[in-house]
Amino acid sequence: MASSTYFRRALTFLLSFYQFLRPIYGQAPPQPENIGIDGTSFLDHQAPINSFYGQTFLLENIPYIDIPDTNIQDVYYYRWSSLARHLHYAIAGTGYVLTEFVQPVQYSMAFDTIDAAAGHQIDEARWLRSDYFTNDYVQFWTRGPGNSTQYTHWILDAAYRKSQVDGNVEFLINQLPGMIDMWNQWYFTFDFGVGLYYFPPTDDAQEFSLPGWVASDGGLTNVTLLDMGPDTYRPSHNAYMVANARAIAQTAAAAGNVTVAANFTSIANNLESAIFEYLWDPTQQFFVDVIRPNNSNLTQLQGREEVGLFPFRFGIGLQNQYSDPSSQEVFDAQGFGSEFGPTTLETRNYYYDAIKPATYCCYWNGQSWPFSTAHVLKSLAAIYRTGNSSLTADDYYHVLSTYATTQHDYYGQPFVAEAHYPEVNAWSAYTTNHSEHYDHSTNNDDVITGLLGLIPRSDSMLQISPIIPQNWTYFALENVGYHGHLLTILYDLDGTRYNQSKGLTVYVDGQVYYNSPNSTAFFALPNATITPSTTPIPVNIAVNPKGNDYFPNASATTTYDLDSPFKANDGFIFYDYIPDNRWTNNQSYFFNDTYELFFARPQTFSSITLAIYSDRVRGGMVDCPASLEIYGDSGIYASLPNFTAICLPNDRNTISFNQNVTSTFIAVNMYIQRSFAVGLAEIEIWVPPSRGPTYYAVDNLLTNTIIEFDKSIQTATVTGAVVGNNTETGSITFSGVYSESGGPVTLDVSYSNRATEASMMQILVNRVPTASGNLTLAPTGNAYQTISADGELLAGNNFVTISGGNGYVYYDTLTVNAANQAA
Ligand SMILES: *[C@@H]1O[C@H](CO)[C@@H](O)[C@H](O)[C@H]1NC(C)=O
Ligand SMILES: *[C@@H]1O[C@H](CO)[C@@H](O)[C@H](O)[C@H]1NC(C)=O
Ligand SMILES: *[C@@H]1O[C@H](CO)[C@@H](O)[C@H](O)[C@H]1NC(C)=O
Ligand SMILES: *[C@@H]1O[C@H](CO)[C@@H](O)[C@H](O)[C@H]1NC(C)=O
Ligand SMILES: *[C@@H]1O[C@H](CO)[C@@H](O)[C@H](O)[C@H]1NC(C)=O
Ligand SMILES: *[C@@H]1O[C@H](CO)[C@@H](O)[C@H](O)[C@H]1NC(C)=O
Ligand SMILES: *[C@@H]1O[C@H](CO)[C@@H](O)[C@H](O)[C@H]1NC(C)=O
Ligand SMILES: *[C@@H]1O[C@H](CO)[C@@H](O)[C@H](O)[C@H]1NC(C)=O
Ligand SMILES: *[C@@H]1O[C@H](CO)[C@@H](O)[C@H](O)[C@H]1NC(C)=O
Ligand SMILES: *[C@@H]1O[C@H](CO)[C@@H](O)[C@H](O)[C@H]1NC(C)=O
Ligand SMILES: *[C@@H]1O[C@H](CO)[C@@H](O)[C@H](O)[C@H]1NC(C)=O
Ligand SMILES: *[C@@H]1O[C@H](CO)[C@@H](O)[C@H](O)[C@H]1NC(C)=O
Repeated sequence: MASSTYFRRALTFLLSFYQFLRPIYGQAPPQPENIGIDGTSFLDHQAPINSFYGQTFLLENIPYIDIPDTNIQDVYYYRWSSLARHLHYAIAGTGYVLTEFVQPVQYSMAFDTIDAAAGHQIDEARWLRSDYFTNDYVQFWTRGPGNSTQYTHWILDAAYRKSQVDGNVEFLINQLPGMIDMWNQWYFTFDFGVGLYYFPPTDDAQEFSLPGWVASDGGLTNVTLLDMGPDTYRPSHNAYMVANARAIAQTAAAAGNVTVAANFTSIANNLESAIFEYLWDPTQQFFVDVIRPNNSNLTQLQGREEVGLFPFRFGIGLQNQYSDPSSQEVFDAQGFGSEFGPTTLETRNYYYDAIKPATYCCYWNGQSWPFSTAHVLKSLAAIYRTGNSSLTADDYYHVLSTYATTQHDYYGQPFVAEAHYPEVNAWSAYTTNHSEHYDHSTNNDDVITGLLGLIPRSDSMLQISPIIPQNWTYFALENVGYHGHLLTILYDLDGTRYNQSKGLTVYVDGQVYYNSPNSTAFFALPNATITPSTTPIPVNIAVNPKGNDYFPNASATTTYDLDSPFKANDGFIFYDYIPDNRWTNNQSYFFNDTYELFFARPQTFSSITLAIYSDRVRGGMVDCPASLEIYGDSGIYASLPNFTAICLPNDRNTISFNQNVTSTFIAVNMYIQRSFAVGLAEIEIWVPPSRGPTYYAVDNLLTNTIIEFDKSIQTATVTGAVVGNNTETGSITFSGVYSESGGPVTLDVSYSNRATEASMMQILVNRVPTASGNLTLAPTGNAYQTISADGELLAGNNFVTISGGNGYVYYDTLTVNAANQAA
């Protein structure tokens, strides 16, 4: 039995090189919180990721698999590398979010997010060994600026099920108020008479769906109606809401809040009853849509859509009378069965179309769609596991294999785009530099929880129930983080594949813990012995979420026409040629070029992390610098005369100084290797998070405001830079406002109002206005004054938003003080 510890390769490299020179090293990028737990190394951890970039991230974070199906296995590893491209570092304090598209799209919301597939994204990312990715992302929705009414979603359900993987119930309980807030935001589209939610299908993420075709007579009467669809009661949306309500109920129960638990259980049950009453069609034997306008009789739509298969994955309709006829449609050539399906509309329908009619991406009247396939796979797994359905393991495997087959590009390499032809082996919606590696579905969650059968639970039982073909004699799932442990699950029918015991063997934290002669298991896990590190997760202060009118402001002595300095501090790390995400000095006149970041105020740090772009082995012109120097206000911080010798191309390289430095800028002067340019996918500066009590406005997310360098005037806290030009539409969102256990505080805001009239301002904590209501900012001339509001923080990171101003208001700091206990 071998045991493995992950090393931060870059740091180790640098250390061995500089050991005697630089005994102290600075803050590295965050590793998994449970990096101290040893797992196993039966599988080769390098070979499966050899063709991907950003290997340090993959080595530290992904569970490894070994299965007798290279089609599914190759796509599995690819999907981790594709997920990595969508991990977007938003801003210090907010941390990571996940994006749908590799490049920002105009209709995305804060930090390029879109709520439509956030549930899928959380389901997938919960299997990364680092919990902070999904913690940050969940909190972005429950407390932060995430817009969760743009599209329908099952984020609360996913947040609950994430806790069933990491076992972090405390984090979940701390999100309860925000979960209820997200729930309450949806009443605008609830029909209290019918007891169901309605929405146009396009806002259920599904353009050109059956309701639009029917209501517009195939587009003849109204093309907009064809695209958007009419308001519709849908099985997808309503099932999401049942799941969201149950997630709140379970979370409240875990918190011991019986009132909320009972209320949301009853809300969920009522909604579920309405789904059966109005959306189950006994004739079609399927959950169907009901169009709302001009349909007071709630006549059901004729035609089965793939959304009618979604309720099962949320536990709705698992009785045979519903699940058998529904699931059989997946395999019926007149239903959803097709060579590269399932289809989004049954093929027997008049409006079914296998060939998309226009360049527009999304026609959900036929195209095979990873978003829906992912739901269907989970529904099939749930139906199969009832134990009394007619579905077989081979049926499930067939759909999963087909899904893997579709996830390839024109050249046969694993690849995911937006929509796939159901009857032709090609993507039907894929736009260059836009929908590569589209993150709008799960795949690896289905491999882990479906195929390999690790079924997440809230209790301490480990349940393993694979859905594998009869003739599989082995599989492995290695080093998967689960409830504070690292698990390795080996199945080896005759013991010859891994040379361990026959049957199923489970290793807990590197030690054999369980063996069974067959492929299933159900047993109690030991309590986690290693508790996650209590060291706060470091934050990256180099990222600029808003582009180059904001800070930290990036520039370079030379930038290639097709590149941008801002691409190297936009919070994304990926190393493709296309989609592009880099700064390079390609075609520079110089042997060295300098990349610089200017901060809005002096910052203190002790290292810099360079995600080095290199396309040399791909036939390109960019490679590691020959050498480099890093300097700031007080001179040179590090000089690496032979950087090529230690450089990790297409990966993070952390360069440490022997002390903390404080500087208003950081410059990286890079010397080229002869005939090659240099490039950066990202530059990061990781520091311990601020715990206050004072937070600086200029460090935070600014909306419709600007940073002013205000050294001349009389400031209260003298940062030298303040946020100015605040109007009614302007706001500053402070994130990472930390409280150990939550509770009342006073929030002191330092401001100046240079107008002659008073101005109004409001403070919100985690989107909730403070009890102080609207605050009046008296004129102050040039001086800064403090205005206070009472607020209540939740445990962990809070989002405090200051909004408003008259155009002449300037904000400097937010200071959090313990509430005055007297009174
Ligand atoms: C969320 O997005 C929707 C759709 O664009 C918009 O109507 C709504 O105002 C947004 N909500 C917030 C809080 O930004
Ligand atoms: C239950 O949760 C609600 C909503 O967060 C809260 O208002 C209420 O005080 C809680 N009740 C108890 C007993 O904790
Ligand atoms: C076409 O449909 C859209 C979306 O339902 C609606 O807003 C619009 O009023 C319709 N136009 C006409 C001319 O009926
Ligand atoms: C149950 O929760 C809903 C949604 O938050 C709320 O509107 C309603 O007042 C609650 N009912 C009770 C009895 O607490
Ligand atoms: C609703 O049903 C009633 C009774 O069957 C019928 O008279 C009426 O025409 C129906 N309304 C519509 C809009 O179809
Ligand atoms: C299982 O059987 C199928 C069908 O005969 C075959 O294609 C596949 O290669 C077999 N798989 C293994 C692992 O033997
Ligand atoms: C698998 O083996 C366990 C004992 O290790 C037994 O309890 C269980 O019933 C077996 N399951 C099947 C499906 O044979
Ligand atoms: C595991 O933890 C639970 C709850 O903390 C405790 O009640 C139980 O005794 C522990 N079990 C063992 C074997 O230590
Ligand atoms: C190249 O390096 C020299 C020496 O450090 C420096 O003075 C010069 O500004 C650099 N040139 C560019 C274009 O960065
Ligand atoms: C740089 O390092 C490489 C590999 O260690 C070595 O071969 C080379 O001689 C070094 N070059 C210089 C200029 O020190
Ligand atoms: C930098 O400062 C931090 C916070 O004070 C401290 O924990 C760390 O050890 C310092 N690093 C170095 C390299 O001195
Ligand atoms: C706010 O900034 C804009 C853009 O810089 C400027 O045009 C405008 O005059 C400013 N308003 C005030 C009140 O300073």
